[in-house]
Amino acid sequence: GAQKSTARAFQTSSNSPRVPDFAFAFDIDGVLLRSSSPLPRAHKALSYLQEQGIPFILLTNGGGKSETDRVAELSKKLDVPLDLSMFVQSHTPFAQMVEGDGVQEGLRDKCIMVVGGDGDKCRQVAEKYGFRNVVTPGDIIVAHPSIWPFSYNFMDYYKKFARPLPRPIDAEDPSKSLKIDAIFVYNDPRDWAADAQIVLDVLLSSNGVLGTYSSKNNDPSLPNRGYLQDGQPPLYYSNPDLLWAAAYHLPRLGQGGFREALDGVWAAVTGGPQKGVDLHKQIMGKPYQGTYEFAEKLLISHRQALFPKASLPPLKRVFMIGDNPESDIQGGNNFKSPIGSEWYSLLLRTGVYQGGEPAHTPRAICDDVWDAVRWGLNSAG
Ligand code: G3P
Ligand code: MG
Repeated sequence: GAQKSTARAFQTSSNSPRVPDFAFAFDIDGVLLRSSSPLPRAHKALSYLQEQGIPFILLTNGGGKSETDRVAELSKKLDVPLDLSMFVQSHTPFAQMVEGDGVQEGLRDKCIMVVGGDGDKCRQVAEKYGFRNVVTPGDIIVAHPSIWPFSYNFMDYYKKFARPLPRPIDAEDPSKSLKIDAIFVYNDPRDWAADAQIVLDVLLSSNGVLGTYSSKNNDPSLPNRGYLQDGQPPLYYSNPDLLWAAAYHLPRLGQGGFREALDGVWAAVTGGPQKGVDLHKQIMGKPYQGTYEFAEKLLISHRQALFPKASLPPLKRVFMIGDNPESDIQGGNNFKSPIGSEWYSLLLRTGVYQGGEPAHTPRAICDDVWDAVRWGLNSAG
């Protein structure tokens, strides 16, 4: 398992530990790992910071398994002690939606559909967060194979992890039919076609009741082609990345690719936003303010835990090291810290970024993660 990361704070002449007023935030794919193998000097970068007692967190748009499993896997791969106190992945913030936050009602007992990831690993993550009524598109396909005409191709796969539905889809009596209260995309969908069809069914349904259409007038000649917008269950995406750095030498389509595909299908079927038929979605993850706020809160408590006895100087600067201008650099540049820290984004050449003028300007462009750590240390003085 992951050991507690230990830290020896900077030893000053008086030997009282001086805690640095800066820290690092590392993206994972394209910075520390490429697909699943460690990038050169990733171990050196992280272990050096730990030896020097300089706090850091990992902040990824990746996901698909529990934080505990992923941190243990990263610790092993990078040969560096890491733990939950320094790790944020794409769907980590979803855990806060179990109880709700006073504004948004808690979804603990609501029926949520979790989309994406391998098998039903993401359902297990959602249940570990505390969601108690989770279905997956695989459950629906096994219970109703005709919901997607080509599902027979993948039926053996789905049957390995599908669970019985809490309620069937009842085309005759909607009051008895399966009702989805919210849709969460936890990780990249593996079967975009079937997932898009089922997500579309829920979005077009009457208040999430599968097997129905929500339409005031069902008159396809009207601009919204008869589809009602209210009562549409919310759709939450955990990761906006259109592209990411996987094993292939060129960037690959990520969860943002599925989102764009679904937007296209939504527009074709309903007329879409141009015709005033909005698809209510909330996209989380880097580069968004909420994700960076969540990450900084974790960094502050992790830093506190590293130096339990020291009186900490306020955190003044965070070096955000990433490979994707759209998520890591844009997010780092735009983040407004509630505690007034300044985030400096550093762009690497080891991932999505392929040279040229990046769409979002970093403080520096570095060859790899060790160069970026050295840049940060020099700039921190
Ligand atoms: O699915 C993972 C991909 O979107 C990028 O992850 O670690 O580069 O934020 P990361
Ligand atoms: Mg990356």
